[in-house]
Amino acid sequence: MNNDILCICYSRTGKTKRVMQEIAMALDCELADLTDRVNRDGAIGWLRCGLDAMRKKTRTINRIQTRRPLSDYALVILGTPVWAGRCSAVMRAFLKRRGHEMSQVAYVITHRSDEPYRAVFDQMDLCLLTPHVADASLRPGSAGYVFWRDQFLRTVADRTGAELHPLPEDAAGTEAPSAAETER
Ligand SMILES: Cc1cc2nc3c(=O)[nH]c(=O)nc-3n(C[C@H](O)[C@H](O)[C@H](O)COP(=O)(O)O)c2cc1C
Repeated sequence: MNNDILCICYSRTGKTKRVMQEIAMALDCELADLTDRVNRDGAIGWLRCGLDAMRKKTRTINRIQTRRPLSDYALVILGTPVWAGRCSAVMRAFLKRRGHEMSQVAYVITHRSDEPYRAVFDQMDLCLLTPHVADASLRPGSAGYVFWRDQFLRTVADRTGAELHPLPEDAAGTEAPSAAETER
C-alpha cells in the first residue's frame, strides 16, 4: 500500500465517491470520507447545498479518520462535487479549517455540465499555503471521463513515483446517473 498518498472525498450522491474510489484503487492508497452534520438529502437538502455554496457558508464538519496526521502525507488528493459553480460547502469547510496542514494537494472535481470549472481550483487554493500541484475536472458519464482520469493518475504517479494499478473496465464514467442525482 502507498502510505504517502491520502485521498479525501466529499460526495452527496455517490458520484465523486465512486471516482475517488477508482483513484485510490489505482494508487493503492487510503481513502477518507468527509462528512458534515447537515441533512443534505432531497429537494430541501439540495437547496441548502446550493445556498451554502453561493453564500460561501461553512458549517461544522466531522473529524476525518486518517492513519497519519495530514502533514505526514506527501500528497493529499481532495475530491468534491461542484455546487453552483463553486467547490462544495463541505469541502470548503475542510479547506478553511485544515488547508494549512497539508504540504502538497491535488484536486478532483466532478460536475454535471460540460464546463471545466477551472476557477474552482483557484478558489480552493486560497486556503492552502502553496498552490495545488495537479487537478482533474471530471464529468462522470462523459466520453472523456476515463481519458482525463487516467491523465490525472499519470501526473500524480510521475510526481510522486507511485506505482499505478490497473482499474476494472466499468468506471464511474460509464455509470448511469443515480436516483438521488436525477431528483434535481
Ligand atoms: C446544490 C448543487 C449545485 C450544483 N451545481 C452544479 C453546477 O453549477 N454545475 C454542474 O455542472 N453541476 C452542478 N451540480 C451537479 C454536481 O456537481 C454533480 O452531479 C456531481 O458529480 C455530484 O457529485 P456527488 O454525487 O459526489 O455529490 C450541482 C449539484 C448540487 C447538489
